[in-house]
Amino acid sequence: MLAVEEIHSYYGLSHVLFGVSLSVGEGGITCLLGRNGAGKTTVLRSVAGLTRVRSGRVVFRGETITNTPVHRLVRLGISFVPDNRRIFPDLTVQDNLAVAWAGRPPGAAWTIPMVYGLFPALAPLAGRPGGCLSGGEQQMLSIARALLGSPRLLILDEPTEGLAPLVVRELEDQIRRLKDMGVNILMAEQNLKTALRLSDYCYVLDRGRVRCHGTVAELGRDPEIRTRYLSV
Ligand SMILES: Nc1ncnc2c1ncn2[C@@H]1O[C@H](COP(=O)(O)OP(=O)(O)OP(=O)(O)O)[C@@H](O)[C@H]1O
Ligand SMILES: [Mg+2]
Repeated sequence: MLAVEEIHSYYGLSHVLFGVSLSVGEGGITCLLGRNGAGKTTVLRSVAGLTRVRSGRVVFRGETITNTPVHRLVRLGISFVPDNRRIFPDLTVQDNLAVAWAGRPPGAAWTIPMVYGLFPALAPLAGRPGGCLSGGEQQMLSIARALLGSPRLLILDEPTEGLAPLVVRELEDQIRRLKDMGVNILMAEQNLKTALRLSDYCYVLDRGRVRCHGTVAELGRDPEIRTRYLSV
């Protein structure tokens, strides 16, 4: 459903992605792995129209979407949850959801009760300001907001970063449930255990290039990949 073809991206003059190609098939979770600074966020931002792609292209369901602004991507069915969990800290949980609901594209199927159903922990917090939530609750709220756009492709940048192990497991269950509901997921994940538990297919990035890709089982069998790129 998504194909990234030989993209090169820059921050100013600094060349960060060097011909990255990857694809996301229908019905699964695709993980980007790699150490700090490998380029995971930049790949996701390049797909989401937030970092300019200088050459190469991004194709979504047959349509070329390279450098399409993020609000148009939402209409096409792509939602991006950045690693800084962009929620409105002064608005309540309910109002954070209401704003996302008001901005939903035509025909969006997800409703606010549905996202409370997926994240029951948010329901009793409906009246609490977003800024007063725990890290895990904020992550759930930012995914919930993205879901109100009824994405076909949900892009998550390090959703488990900084969360306590129990919260990580809860979030993993919810991400798995989303996959079972037919939401395709492309995520960056430094937590190898989470990636192992969730992903159907992985790409390992290193210094702006794809070093290798395969199923978790395939990658885990290669001792060099394990030690050099996966830190296990
Ligand atoms: N805003 C920026 N301006 C300049 N260089 C940047 C910027 N953001 C990232 N970079 C550089 O781009 C490269 C890739 O960074 P990126 O954030 O994509 O890596 P990452 O794999 O997501 O890392 P992390 O695990 O730390 O999130 C790094 O060398 C980084 O220093
Ligand atoms: Mg990153």
